[in-house]
Amino acid sequence: MTVTIPPELIAALHVAKKVVFLTGAGVSAESGIPTFRDAMTGLWERYSAEQLATADAFTRDRELVWGWYEWRRMQVMKAEPNAAHRAIAAIASQVASVDVITQNVDDLHERAGSHNVLHLHGQLNRPFCFACRQPHALQPGTPDEPEGGRRLAPPQCNRCNGYIRPGVVWFGEMLPEAEWNAAVEACDACDVLFSVGTSSLVQPAAGLPLLAARRRVTVVQVNPNSTSLDSHARFNLVGAAGVIMPALFDAVWPASS
Ligand code: OAD
Repeated sequence: MTVTIPPELIAALHVAKKVVFLTGAGVSAESGIPTFRDAMTGLWERYSAEQLATADAFTRDRELVWGWYEWRRMQVMKAEPNAAHRAIAAIASQVASVDVITQNVDDLHERAGSHNVLHLHGQLNRPFCFACRQPHALQPGTPDEPEGGRRLAPPQCNRCNGYIRPGVVWFGEMLPEAEWNAAVEACDACDVLFSVGTSSLVQPAAGLPLLAARRRVTVVQVNPNSTSLDSHARFNLVGAAGVIMPALFDAVWPASS
């Protein structure tokens, strides 16, 4: 597939001092991590993310919820960063300042070489106590697929004996304040903002590109499908992030690839 990168976008990136990437589940899709809008499969086909990703669900059935997150953590540990993660990391070596703001709870941006990634929705590998919020160190190695079905008992806190919960932001919870403030600051100061692989459905993250668009920043969307951001983005690059992002890098910095 030939990807055409608009010359105006190439020019904007040549002079950009600060570029922000806001990423969502679509950026990890080509690493084999299902997005939230994909139907759940296998062991989990009877459930939806909205049913499992809440404090109420954990209170009702913590073994079900912990089992689901450990299964997802296992998928992430077996996955590798893809060409989109790598291109985003490579762009940081060409532009004075790059911020990666992600809604993803995996660590694929970091494993591709991006630094200081802002995780707006937390991280699978940073669990903490449901009762006292003390961070919990996970056992090294890849977790096993929960045995005998989908339930798995969560470990207990070594300070208060409470149950350990996944280190992610659940529906109805506040985003981590420091990450959110840093994300807003980055969007307030950037010259170009990319929204890559996100459905732009979940607030407040979906509002970040609009903050930039209001300042007449160059907003670029990379997505095979249309979203509510289409009409606000100056450029809609339609296609898979793993194809578009490396093609964009090659078009803007041909001598460096
Ligand atoms: P979604 O699952 O809502 O959307 C994934 C987006 O990725 C869709 O717009 C797809 O069209 C697009 N997509 C799929 N494959 C792609 C590819 N190869 N390249 C580029 N784009 C692709 O994921 P998010 O927008 O990240 O929140 O969802 C936002 C939040 O909703 C998640 O962080 C999660 C969820 O509920 C919490 O858990 C709090």
